[in-house]
Amino acid sequence: MAKKIVLASGKGGVGKSTTAAMLGACLAKNEKRTLLIDCDAGLNTLRLLMEDVDHKPYDWLDAATGACDFEIAICKMTPFLSLVNAPPTVPADLPETCIRELVSAVEKDYDFVLLDAPAGLGAGLKRAALAAGSALILATADAVSVQGAERTDALLKSWGVEETRLIINRYDVKAARRGNYFDIDTTIDRTLVQLIGVVPEDKALTALSVTKKLPPRSKSLAAFGRIARRLQGENVSLTHAMLK
Ligand SMILES: Nc1ncnc2c1ncn2[C@@H]1O[C@H](COP(=O)(O)OP(=O)(O)OP(=O)(O)O)[C@@H](O)[C@H]1O
Ligand SMILES: [Mg+2]
Repeated sequence: MAKKIVLASGKGGVGKSTTAAMLGACLAKNEKRTLLIDCDAGLNTLRLLMEDVDHKPYDWLDAATGACDFEIAICKMTPFLSLVNAPPTVPADLPETCIRELVSAVEKDYDFVLLDAPAGLGAGLKRAALAAGSALILATADAVSVQGAERTDALLKSWGVEETRLIINRYDVKAARRGNYFDIDTTIDRTLVQLIGVVPEDKALTALSVTKKLPPRSKSLAAFGRIARRLQGENVSLTHAMLK
């Protein structure tokens, strides 16, 4: 059975889709069969961050409403990485378990299913969360994002997603030292979520939707690689080298 993980944040724009794309690429590089599902109906940004997208005119709503088989909506990008697009809109009466039902039919074929949730704490997040067994909560080290992470964690737990881990994204150690960001300990203390990784601010990531690929030496790549290995169950220490 696949490990099914929702990427959530509450506050928008903190790096859920970027992290889903990068972790998908890292897990696939480690030969883990990985399915990315864009759960952000209306925006469907994940495909813009990926290389080698096999564009298909179908999305998960087509599969949920019986317009196509779910297999048809799965875009195979590389031998180990596949993507399902989000629909442009969703009907108000769409069952909140519809993504869970689609995932349960194919999860035997994957090691990981990563569900990229929309911003906010509404129906889109719940649809993605109900399909997941665990969560990666994204936050930047500021009060607004941290509040979003704390509320997201409480909501996910109320929906039965008990295993939650925190990724602090866009971390800038100099800005934290100047007092413009929380430091890492404060961010963890305020969200009350266990840390799984820290991703530094990286200009190469901001350019990802244009370049589709990070330069091999980009400073965030190593951070995503370590998070991927932790998800795979490896004991990888939290490296603070980049944080000094
Ligand atoms: N570590 C980083 N360093 C620099 N830029 C980053 C980093 N992580 C994300 N970004 C940039 O931040 C912006 C928002 O990222 P992204 O779209 O992944 O966020 P999101 O949480 O998925 O947003 P939304 O809530 O709208 O779905 C993008 O321009 C992205 O390139
Ligand atoms: Mg997004």
